[in-house]
Amino acid sequence: MGTSEISGFYKKSLEERLAIVKEFAKLDKEEIEELKKYGAMSFETADRMVENVIGTQQLPLGIATNFQINGKDYLVPMSTEEPSVVAAASKAAGIARKEKGFKAEASPPVMIGQVQLVKVKDCEKAINKIEKNSRTLIDLANKADPVLVKFGGGAKKINTHTIDTERGKMTIVHLLVDVRDAMGANAVNTMCETIAPELEKLSGGEARLKIISNLAIHRTVKVKAVFSKKTLEESFKKGNLKGEEIIEQILDAYQFAANDVFRACTNNKGIMNGVDAVAIACGQDSRALEAGAHAFASLKGKYTTLTKYYKDKKGNLVGEIEMPMAVGLVGGAIKTSPVAKIGSKILGIKTANELAEVMAAVGLAQNFAALRALATEGIQRGHMKLHAKNIAVMAGAKGKQVDEIAAKMAAEKNIRVDRAKELLKELEDK
Ligand code: MEV
Repeated sequence: MGTSEISGFYKKSLEERLAIVKEFAKLDKEEIEELKKYGAMSFETADRMVENVIGTQQLPLGIATNFQINGKDYLVPMSTEEPSVVAAASKAAGIARKEKGFKAEASPPVMIGQVQLVKVKDCEKAINKIEKNSRTLIDLANKADPVLVKFGGGAKKINTHTIDTERGKMTIVHLLVDVRDAMGANAVNTMCETIAPELEKLSGGEARLKIISNLAIHRTVKVKAVFSKKTLEESFKKGNLKGEEIIEQILDAYQFAANDVFRACTNNKGIMNGVDAVAIACGQDSRALEAGAHAFASLKGKYTTLTKYYKDKKGNLVGEIEMPMAVGLVGGAIKTSPVAKIGSKILGIKTANELAEVMAAVGLAQNFAALRALATEGIQRGHMKLHAKNIAVMAGAKGKQVDEIAAKMAAEKNIRVDRAKELLKELEDK
């Protein structure tokens, strides 16, 4: 496996970038041709994936460089409409890399399926009966997915609780299922539907909803990285800020997110900028990840940040993230979307857990990059520089005009549509 530490990837031509990725991920000629198609999904594929298809929507697919996770190098495919996300992730990964990169650990891939029981006369008695019969229920659930069981997964445990609602008490059954390399929704939903009639018999109630929970508290990833004061200081070209100062400012920013829900929300949005971009590039259900992440962020009674930061003994900054990550390599778009297939090949991931670890590492990198910029120079400078090309296009620029106008606006530090229009007119009048 080659190195993901590539300086100036953004300065290289498309052909050069593709050649690097081809070599790194051992892509074949067809895969490279697929990437170059700019419309790689055929109508037939799209029409099989969703209903009533009339076209395909496209997003840029970028490559984040510099990622080293558990000692392995990754080039990370990211699909997003937002400028500066890929650059920011690469920058943060470059800083973390100087201290051995990210250490990530995913828990076993256990998802929760929920069965809602209503009209249960005696909830306590029902719970007792369900728990006494949990082995029979688990065996019944497992009969619905022998393949999953063959691969070491399957239903493992039953938990129960009651909730008080406006429509009376309800008994809620949680079926814990090890879904191995699947995201798990299909397996879990089928199992919940399979055991529901038995749960009705045991509880004397009626089963209503039988559905996976996206709050995957048993399927989480923890990632840690060290960002040294020396590398942080060097990461600012002008170098007018000391590493220690940058760290103090980032710690202030972290405390803001840890103690203020309005800031925590934006902080976590930044994390999801990274997580979702990899999810989309690799055909994952980004809405499930979003829902799980935000619910997880409020589990301790208040909504807070998914990351945390502190100083180690040497005074370097340590960043950590813990979040649920329900991703899969079997079933779903990762197997049907041609570009998502290539995305996972570029990553070189072997298991869903490995994908989860990469995605959480990108989330931490994205958050660190945002805090580093916000706590010091602000994000607008870098963001607007990258956004300048979009502004030029909005003003009507085409081809080479886009780069020329964007560069001029960046140099003038005046990145606005009205200025882009003036510059375009000047170019056209030449
Ligand atoms: C923008 O998409 C994301 C940020 O707002 C995240 C943050 O504030 O931490 C920059």
